[in-house]
Amino acid sequence: MIYIDPPYNTGKDFVYPDNFKEGLQNYLEFSQQVDEGNKKISTNTETAGRYHSNWLNMMYPRLKLARNLLTDDGVIFISIDDAEQANLKKMCDEIFGEGSFVGIFIRRTINSGKQDSVILANYHEYLLAYARNINQIDLNRRAKTEEERRKLYPLEDNYLITRGRYYISQLDKGSIQYSDSLNYPILAPDGTEIWPGSGFDDKTRVFRWSKDKVKWGMDNDYIVFKKMSSGWKVYAKSYEFRDNSDNIINPSNPYTSLDFISKEYSNFNATPGLMKMFNGKNYFNFPKPVPYLEDLLLYATKGNSIILDFFAGSATTAHAVMQLNAEDGGNRKHIMVQLPEPTDEKSEAFKAGYKKISDIARERINRAGEKIKADFADKLAEREIPLDVGYRTYKLADTNFTKWQSAPTGDLTELQARLDLMRESSNDNASEEDLLVEVLLKMGLPLTTRTKTVDVDGLHVYQVVAEGDSSEGQPVLYLNERAKPTLEQLRAIITDLTPSKFVILDDAFQGDNQLKTNLVQTCKSYDVELWTV
Ligand SMILES: C[S@@+](CC[C@H](N)C(=O)[O-])C[C@H]1O[C@@H](n2cnc3c(N)ncnc32)[C@H](O)[C@@H]1O
Repeated sequence: MIYIDPPYNTGKDFVYPDNFKEGLQNYLEFSQQVDEGNKKISTNTETAGRYHSNWLNMMYPRLKLARNLLTDDGVIFISIDDAEQANLKKMCDEIFGEGSFVGIFIRRTINSGKQDSVILANYHEYLLAYARNINQIDLNRRAKTEEERRKLYPLEDNYLITRGRYYISQLDKGSIQYSDSLNYPILAPDGTEIWPGSGFDDKTRVFRWSKDKVKWGMDNDYIVFKKMSSGWKVYAKSYEFRDNSDNIINPSNPYTSLDFISKEYSNFNATPGLMKMFNGKNYFNFPKPVPYLEDLLLYATKGNSIILDFFAGSATTAHAVMQLNAEDGGNRKHIMVQLPEPTDEKSEAFKAGYKKISDIARERINRAGEKIKADFADKLAEREIPLDVGYRTYKLADTNFTKWQSAPTGDLTELQARLDLMRESSNDNASEEDLLVEVLLKMGLPLTTRTKTVDVDGLHVYQVVAEGDSSEGQPVLYLNERAKPTLEQLRAIITDLTPSKFVILDDAFQGDNQLKTNLVQTCKSYDVELWTV
């Protein structure tokens, strides 16, 4: 599932304008809200000539990518208000396809106020939902609340504990197609025959259940008889937690587009909660309420789903994922992406040391994780797989390996300088961890890959840890360009750790080609794939 809450383009919110012709540096400059002259760029104002285009240009590539990232059964939810709802709907129809439209939900934003509104006091916003493939989605139903169940199932019998409460409904019905097999008598407790409708000749009504099913119902207390002034009537019981074949059920309704209009989902249930986590301080404006995200997760995820939010803000989505996992025993994972947008220097957040929005998000995840662990301590102790409230954090950065500057040049000195640069393969300032992450990605391994450090014959190497904590045959990496290894040390790595693949920094050979050739031979003879980077 993907949930996003992009800037609504109200004229006041920050919308970073993309320019895909420029590189990472340009992106970072913009996202830090300063231009080359160190001037603030910030908001997309209504007076800007390309007001809607700016916003749409920003959203379009992100949504295109989002579609590619969705699984076949995945759904994307997008929060939006009137400013861009109509444009967003059209754009999503184009990107996801009109046939992939799941629906538009209404969310109550405020509970009261706006008494000075002249035209309309607007109390809601929207949530657009699109599927990657409408035929493959597997959305959940909403569990009936205790209140709904009390209303629907008012009666109790001896089976309260196992079957729950129940209601009764007449067993004969007029809306069913007439059939001789459903027109038969049932014996009342005093032996009187009960026929559907007014009797054998009444072809307007039949029983809903077959003769055998009624026998089963009577044997298992699913049938009730009532003596009315007009005679005996027969009823079937419908229980809260059993269907009429005694199978266990969870009473539920389909989600509706009006499911988020209660106060619980409004902004009044968002900011105060976040402020409470930060000792009463308001560090982030307009977070979404945690219960709202939790309900969306209940609707569109399973216990092991991955949830992505690439307009993460204060990371409400991550909070809801952890909270719901604690509540229902799930192991959902989240990926939060946040632009390196700085906080306003005059804001409480900045003064408290949160220089970027992502700093607030990380601290929120930390604090929410600790609170959830304390609040659900008893429940968590019973889990087979412990609740995971940890996360890794990565920054978008340029490569740590030397790139060939491909822009043509006729200047010989420039060309020489470029060639000199190519003599070193990796950036001297990069840490081993930086190199490790990049190489793992180049190897096609995910950012969640676990590694361990191992000392072999005085060399510090990294080895991938596979599921089940085993490192047997897993890739090994040597990424220290400052300590040139000996052939004996390299051979020890191969024989002690028996990796399938050995990755070594080219700079680690420090120009010793013989050492490199010997390593190639060693790897060949032990059937180990060698990668130099
Ligand atoms: C409304 S906030 C999301 C709030 C979040 N749902 C929460 O509950 O905390 C929108 C986020 O979009 C980010 N943003 C603004 N322009 C962006 C852009 N062009 N690309 C990516 N993120 C952007 C902002 O930094 C902000 O954190």
